[in-house]
Amino acid sequence: MNLRFTEEQEMMRKMVRDFAQTEIAPFVEKMEEGEFPREILKKMGELGLMGIPVPEEYGGSEMDFISYIIAIHEISKVSATVGVILSVHTSVGTNPILYFGTEEQKRKYVHKLAAGEYLGAFCLTEPSAGSDAASLKTRAVKKDGHYVLNGSKVFITNGGEADVYIVFASTNPEAGPKGVSAFIVEKDTPGFIVGKDEHKMGLYGSRTVQLTFEDMKVPEENLLGQEGEGFKIAMSNLDSGRIGIAAQALGIAEAALEAATDYAKERVQFGKPIAAQQGVGFKLADMATSVEAAKLLIYRAAQLRSEGQICGIEASMAKLFTSRTAVEVTTEAIQVFGGYGYTKEYPVERYFRDAKVTEIYEGTSEIQRIVISKQL
Ligand code: CAA
Repeated sequence: MNLRFTEEQEMMRKMVRDFAQTEIAPFVEKMEEGEFPREILKKMGELGLMGIPVPEEYGGSEMDFISYIIAIHEISKVSATVGVILSVHTSVGTNPILYFGTEEQKRKYVHKLAAGEYLGAFCLTEPSAGSDAASLKTRAVKKDGHYVLNGSKVFITNGGEADVYIVFASTNPEAGPKGVSAFIVEKDTPGFIVGKDEHKMGLYGSRTVQLTFEDMKVPEENLLGQEGEGFKIAMSNLDSGRIGIAAQALGIAEAALEAATDYAKERVQFGKPIAAQQGVGFKLADMATSVEAAKLLIYRAAQLRSEGQICGIEASMAKLFTSRTAVEVTTEAIQVFGGYGYTKEYPVERYFRDAKVTEIYEGTSEIQRIVISKQL
């Protein structure tokens, strides 16, 4: 495969890098205090970053999937919080409507999502349906031109801040996965209740909320795809979504590697920089090798996706490997920094806290192994 980026993709990398340095980096401290990066998202919308792979006719930038992955990768090097907001908004917040929506739904929602006027979210997980997503309990009952939804969701990224939610509910509980349907839900729908925002280990600037639906009436025309098609919609969008989360993990790992390398070149102990001492030099060599391997897996999966090919196994491999790499590399980065790495003075402790969840959301590492082994 050819892993040389095109001129357009390199321009995207440069533009996003500059944006991340000038606009996102100064706001990292505020996000660490819990502030949601609303203004940054607005500027990203103006630059076309909230709809990178969306066709121009629906208000997007109509760039390839690799360019989209480049954006998440580069943004996550500076802020994994903004990285996950963008990934969820695009991969699982916007794409389900783009791929499964009617023309009317696309015109009504995708334009605004791609422009960053609307923020998207994805509501699959429930208190008793995490990895076993098909066992969800939220019910949707058709009545008088509406579906009436009752149930609750947990760990909803962008929840409360988002304007549009892709909600999965069962229209036929006896049918298991084949009874799941998908709905487009607007935030101000009566019966849509935003609950607790979780206190997380990292990603402080992102929202992770509980949602409750109490007799929430969703117009019939907001059914996405056909009744019973919801599980397929969720799974097929997670395929590409997982490449986005892998790119987020890659950004975190790369940032930690760069910080550790710079520090190791400057920090002198026993009369020479610690980078020149084998114990640290070898550590950096292993970290760099893992990061490079992760990059190859991710961009290979992204290339397949860009070509419109099925990439479920490659996406799961990329996420499985890169999320582990992010946890290992950020752990080692703290070790290179020694005591300083354990303080808030340096960013490596943030990288470490932000890395862990990449092994959990959009399918745990164990779920990625299920997807991979099933296909083997
Ligand atoms: N594309 C299309 N259809 C698919 C599919 C895919 N990738 N994977 C499965 N399906 C279809 C199957 O073909 C099957 O239909 P048929 O019987 O007609 O073939 C149907 O769906 C059921 O498939 P399975 O029997 O494989 O389903 P399962 O119940 O065993 O579950 C699973 C499979 C992979 C474990 C799935 O439940 C899963 O991915 N779980 C993890 C959930 C997850 O990733 N949640 C993420 C939440 S979003 C998030 O985290 C966002 C965020 O905040 C960052």
